[in-house]
Amino acid sequence: MTTEYMLNEARSLIRSSYAPYSSFRVAAVLEDTEGQLFAGVNVENSSYGMTMCAERSAVFSAVASGSRAFRSMVIYSPDGPPIPCGACRQVLWEFCDEEFSITVASDGIPSREYRLGDLLPEAFQL
Ligand code: THU
Repeated sequence: MTTEYMLNEARSLIRSSYAPYSSFRVAAVLEDTEGQLFAGVNVENSSYGMTMCAERSAVFSAVASGSRAFRSMVIYSPDGPPIPCGACRQVLWEFCDEEFSITVASDGIPSREYRLGDLLPEAFQL
């Protein structure tokens, strides 16, 4: 799947983001190694710590659907560049290798592509 196609999907998903507390809306589209796409959005909570990021939403949705091997992810926010948090990097590492591609996109700035291995060096693994 092309990055452009996945970014378009993420843009249309953004209306499902539930971010009444931060007003920072995020959508993630995850591609598995067979080209299937999985959607995630951030889902906030009035007990702030219960908030779930878009990236982890997408991973958990994919795993619940039976996918466990992933190729790439596009993360989009209209509210600023949504660079993945540490928790999401560790959750991605559970199912992805160093070459897993992460594209971070917002409006009015160029998208940036990262390797998971660069975002999470020396990752913890049991
Ligand atoms: N957030 C994500 O969903 N993904 C990111 O990459 C960055 C942060 C969410 C969590 C919270 O709902 C809001 O953005 C502000 O931190």
